[in-house]
Amino acid sequence: MSQHPVGATPDRATANSAAPGADAALRDAPSDKVPALRVTDLRKTYGNGVEALKGVSLDVAEGDFFALLGPNGAGKSTLIGIVSSLVNLTSGSVEIFGTDITRRRSDAMRLIGLVPQELNFNLFEKPLDILVNYAGFYGVPRKVALERAEVELKRAHLWSKAQMTSRTLSGGMKRRLMIARAMMTRPRLLILDEPTAGVDIEIRRGMWDSLQEINASGTTIILTTHYLEEAENLCRNLAIIDHGSIIASGPMRSLLAELDVQGFVLDTDGALPATLPVIEGATLRARDAHTLDIDMPREMDLNHIFVALDAAGIKVRSMRTKSNRLEELFVRMTARPEQSA
Ligand SMILES: Nc1ncnc2c1ncn2[C@@H]1O[C@H](COP(=O)(O)OP(=O)(O)OP(=O)(O)O)[C@@H](O)[C@H]1O
Ligand SMILES: [Mg+2]
Repeated sequence: MSQHPVGATPDRATANSAAPGADAALRDAPSDKVPALRVTDLRKTYGNGVEALKGVSLDVAEGDFFALLGPNGAGKSTLIGIVSSLVNLTSGSVEIFGTDITRRRSDAMRLIGLVPQELNFNLFEKPLDILVNYAGFYGVPRKVALERAEVELKRAHLWSKAQMTSRTLSGGMKRRLMIARAMMTRPRLLILDEPTAGVDIEIRRGMWDSLQEINASGTTIILTTHYLEEAENLCRNLAIIDHGSIIASGPMRSLLAELDVQGFVLDTDGALPATLPVIEGATLRARDAHTLDIDMPREMDLNHIFVALDAAGIKVRSMRTKSNRLEELFVRMTARPEQSA
């Protein structure tokens, strides 16, 4: 990974405080609380020689809502697979609330709820049966399981579908069923691998509400997503993983605050001139005849830009921020060398 503007690569990605915006001193202070997840120098080399994880260290504090981000193939699902004992680690260690997953596998597994990236329930079973049978597998008595299933199916807005064949559920409903199932064992740590992939924005927002409710009730959540707006809205702390290594981590607010450039898209009245004005410190680019892209340092005064545009005869009709801020940060940090010329 080449140079990037924010957050030095830490030895261990820490998030000792779950409080949003906790100051650095507090963050760096040793916490005597056992983290929900502690990953130490984790490595994974698959049988085909692919080094999917190259020494990842990471702490997630109890009660946190944590985003694990990274481009396709970064190693997120491998990490989650190891944490949930579906994939064997090559070296390093993983502890769930202090319980080592290799030495005390079944104790560790009891603490986790997993929503995997791929749908993995029996499509010919009914939602109610899927939940109750899953809980039964983990030793939850049937009467308790039935009560919980009702709570979880209602939270997932699937109660009316409880007795239908799961095959008939929509994609978004199937995703919500996976979350409801994972909650049946009342996990202390809920791990979700792209739970909202391919889900429309309205249903996604509904899922955010459910996840926030689950987190507020004390469940630690780790989420991977490619919708960075989702991570920015939900998560207090994050780690960005790329090519099997963590390249940035910390509180969402601190990482975003370090982002020193902001981008705007301006719609103009009348066509842009052939030669754009030069504004020192800012980068201007015509997207098309009526749309101007501007990147400027965060501390630069916007009025300064407008004065210069006005002097060049460019009348701005409307303006919006270019993308969500986490997206900018992410694109910059994970840019392949050939893209970041
Ligand atoms: N079972 C496997 N056998 C061999 N290689 C694998 C296996 N699973 C994953 N890999 C490789 O390991 C690397 C990391 O994959 P992983 O699925 O962990 O990425 P990811 O971050 O979850 O990506 P995505 O965002 O696409 O889900 C990739 O190069 C992938 O091809
Ligand atoms: Mg994945």
